[in-house]
Amino acid sequence: MWAPSHRRLCLAFLLVCVLSVFFFLHVHEALLYSSLNLFTLCACSATTRVAIFCLSGTPKAANTSLSCPEHPASLSGTWTIHPEGRFGNQMGQYATLLALARLNGRRAFILPAMHATLAPMFRISLPVLAPEVDKSTPWQELELHDWMSEDYAHLTHPVLKLTGFPCSWTFFHHLREQIRSEFTLHNHVREEAQGFLRQLRLGRTGDRPRTFVGVHVRRGDYLQVMPQRWKGVVGDRAYLQQAMDWFRARHEAPIFVVTSNGMQWCQENIDTSRGDVVFAGNGHEGSPGKDFALLTQCNHTIMTIGTFGFWAAYLAGGDTVYLANFTLPTSEFLKIFKPEAAFLPEWVGINADLSPLRFNLS
Ligand SMILES: *[C@@H]1O[C@H](CO)[C@@H](O)[C@H](O)[C@H]1NC(C)=O
Ligand SMILES: *[C@@H]1O[C@H](CO)[C@@H](O)[C@H](O)[C@H]1NC(C)=O
Ligand SMILES: *[C@@H]1O[C@H](CO)[C@@H](O)[C@H](O)[C@H]1NC(C)=O
Repeated sequence: MWAPSHRRLCLAFLLVCVLSVFFFLHVHEALLYSSLNLFTLCACSATTRVAIFCLSGTPKAANTSLSCPEHPASLSGTWTIHPEGRFGNQMGQYATLLALARLNGRRAFILPAMHATLAPMFRISLPVLAPEVDKSTPWQELELHDWMSEDYAHLTHPVLKLTGFPCSWTFFHHLREQIRSEFTLHNHVREEAQGFLRQLRLGRTGDRPRTFVGVHVRRGDYLQVMPQRWKGVVGDRAYLQQAMDWFRARHEAPIFVVTSNGMQWCQENIDTSRGDVVFAGNGHEGSPGKDFALLTQCNHTIMTIGTFGFWAAYLAGGDTVYLANFTLPTSEFLKIFKPEAAFLPEWVGINADLSPLRFNLS
């Protein structure tokens, strides 16, 4: 008599547990999505199978376009870009999509993954395409190379998904004010970075204005990828020394704010004897946002390699020193990367020391 009902009790208990887990997951997901504001603001038309879902997530920088296509029966003129890679790559993809769509008179939409990467940091304004729309749209694809070319100004594709890793200023520099405004930091992100810099200034010489030089030292996977895949190097100790001396010669008592995904190497290799170097953050592999914000709030930039450093320098907008000629002339990298399309003409290049490569190859 008791045994089966005991068993029933157990089963009932199990059932309750399982249901609670589902409920919890569901609520969790709902919270997650509502906090990303990823959900439907307008489903354009009941008459189309394909609804464009617009997005409320982006804080409304005045002219945020939340419009649905006026003629929802057609997605013609809708362009997007495949989000791929990390933070810096996706910034490049965003800016390139915006510039090319405008040039060709098309409407640019981003996909949710890109929104998830960029919107926590920036007041981006491009509307987001719902996953359903992405899936059901018969996209034509175009893989971009990383420099502007004439044909990109005359693309006739009605529905186009761009792909690739474009990050060249040659796509978007004519729109730099708009690009900078798209990549405006949210206030709380900016404030946090400013607070950090203020504290550095106060800790030193009181209220004398100081010049901050953001230093981005890209390490991590590039330590292998550059020499092995691309016959190239990453910024070394001598490069960073030269780059810092370049600023010391031109600015009174600059403060170098170093961020890296290889912080320990930086601490062991960057000369701190002048007391003008600050190691900020503890490596940005996991959450690059804080480091990025800090770099953009500095007055000038020292970059090594990579799109993260490019964007920090582009947005900081001051003097920029970069690592030049960082691959052997025979590198395959030079087929996909044109230095003159990657670095602004006014930026200052310091040649990399390639001797470790030659040594390894011999
Ligand atoms: C918004 O658009 C209007 C008219 O198109 C323009 O006058 C105004 O300057 C824009 N505002 C911003 C912040 O871009
Ligand atoms: C340098 O950057 C700091 C921190 O963002 C800022 O307060 C200061 O006005 C900048 N200096 C110049 C000359 O732009
Ligand atoms: C990189 O190498 C090229 C070709 O040797 C040279 O013309 C250029 O000046 C070098 N760049 C820098 C910044 O030294």
